[in-house]
Amino acid sequence: MKTLILNGSPRKHGDTASLLEIFRCGMGGEIFQTDAYYAEISPCTDCRFCRTHPACAVKDGMQEIYDLLPECDNIVIASPIYFAEITGKLLDLFSRLQYYYNSRFYRGERIVFKPKKGAVILVGGGSWSADRAAETAACLLKEMGASEIHPPVISHNTDRLPAVKDTAATDGVRSIIRFFEQV
Ligand SMILES: Cc1cc2nc3c(=O)[nH]c(=O)nc-3n(C[C@H](O)[C@H](O)[C@H](O)COP(=O)(O)O)c2cc1C
Repeated sequence: MKTLILNGSPRKHGDTASLLEIFRCGMGGEIFQTDAYYAEISPCTDCRFCRTHPACAVKDGMQEIYDLLPECDNIVIASPIYFAEITGKLLDLFSRLQYYYNSRFYRGERIVFKPKKGAVILVGGGSWSADRAAETAACLLKEMGASEIHPPVISHNTDRLPAVKDTAATDGVRSIIRFFEQV
């Protein structure tokens, strides 16, 4: 079983990282993680190369994700909430999914994705709604071929309580592992 984690936090030992650590310790199979802040993945510039060619013109860290996406079994989107959204670096990375839309729409090529499951882990300093970030992440999971999606695991109020001490969130991460491992 292959699981791809797309992490939108710049903090290497922050709240998202602490929940991902629990996930990585409990989850079996192969785990691949891309940290959007350090992966050197440029945003899509709408160059439109992929409207006429079966590839993205930009050769950077995204190529590894293009290789993994069709074949992985699970995808986790994990991010702090920045102004009610997943972080900008993660959105930069996800803008490169336009390659799949253009392949379908302009070249009539439907890239075959293995059926997969998805999950979303969000952390926020305050107690504002995480709905917008959760909706964006769910929409992106669907674009990446996830047909079954676990309810979002959200740790609010990290300014007061670190996510790793939020038992609802840590239980939620373990629930994602069970969901992924169910056949
Ligand atoms: C630029 C910026 C914007 C933020 N916007 C929000 C927000 O809209 N809602 C919220 O609850 N927390 C917000 N926060 C707080 C972070 O989500 C919070 O500190 C989180 O726990 C950081 O996660 P990390 O340690 O995994 O990076 C923001 C933080 C930053 C730096």
